[in-house]
Amino acid sequence: MILDKIEKLLEEVKGLTASNAEEIEAMRLKYLSKKGEINALMADFRNVPAEQKKEVGIKINELKQTALERINSLREQFETAEAQDDDLDLTRTAYPIELGTRHPLTIVKNEIINIFSRMGFTLADGPEVEDDLHVFTKMNFAADHPARDMQDTFFVESNPDDVTKNILLRSHTSSVQARVMETTQPPIRIICPGRVYRNEAITARAHCFFHQIEGLYIDKNVSFTDLKQVLLTFARELFGPDTKIRLRPSYFPFTEPSAEMDISCHICGGKGCGFCKHTGWVEILGCGMVDPNVLELCGIDSKVYSGYAFGLGVERITNLKYQVSDLRMFSENDVRFLREFESAN
Ligand code: PHE
Repeated sequence: MILDKIEKLLEEVKGLTASNAEEIEAMRLKYLSKKGEINALMADFRNVPAEQKKEVGIKINELKQTALERINSLREQFETAEAQDDDLDLTRTAYPIELGTRHPLTIVKNEIINIFSRMGFTLADGPEVEDDLHVFTKMNFAADHPARDMQDTFFVESNPDDVTKNILLRSHTSSVQARVMETTQPPIRIICPGRVYRNEAITARAHCFFHQIEGLYIDKNVSFTDLKQVLLTFARELFGPDTKIRLRPSYFPFTEPSAEMDISCHICGGKGCGFCKHTGWVEILGCGMVDPNVLELCGIDSKVYSGYAFGLGVERITNLKYQVSDLRMFSENDVRFLREFESAN
């Protein structure tokens, strides 16, 4: 009787299968726990006649051993299957970490900032969403100046009763100069790097935003000579010691006199090439002596102080240094383009 029962259980145990951890635990409880089938057999064992005890004892042990092995091996199989599901291979080599590169505009901007820092200029910062007061009015733009027109400026909020309260995307970083002048008395020696916006169609040669660095120096007895020497030093530091500069008269509402500065074309060395349109010169910045009106509008006594200002486009300088022919490349995030600047980092 008991032997039949053992045989039956042995067959059962040998054929056990499981598809998850819960099923395995249920088997352990069914066969191997205190209240399990095998322990129940042990209780019956007492009633087995003495002459059969040995045989039955061996059979029960065999059953117990088989059940233990079967359940453990199912558990093992199941655990390895689970690990494979996770796709976890601790021996696989790691993916190489790709290092990013600095954006060419950042590389050139940092280089320019470094040059002016060595000449004693400090950095100043201001908001990109500005009011008319700081972008135009304090910079001596007449109320009807065309630059206030929708053609050039992106307006965020217009205020027909008081144009100075118009909110707009700054069209130059001169607004930062206005902010510094209204809160600081000279000497002031700052550069203002930042993004500026103009309502232009996007082409290879123009974009609706670009980056400027403007400079401002105000103190007693600052003259045009100081401006010229600082700009010559700057040009030579950035483009090499043989670089020449030339200043051409120009007009800006906030400077008087005003000039545009060219450098000798560093691609052909001034001989004339396609890049400089065979003139030997390329324009890189605007500059001039700060108009006394600007000083007064910003709360600085123009009888005591004078100063100069200059402003340059980072894209333009980057084009010159690296011959990038299409402005749009700077904002398209094409990694093939960006990787070309790896060695300049
Ligand atoms: N703010 C001028 C511009 O955006 C640049 C400039 C700055 C010119 C300072 C002269 C002096 O074009």
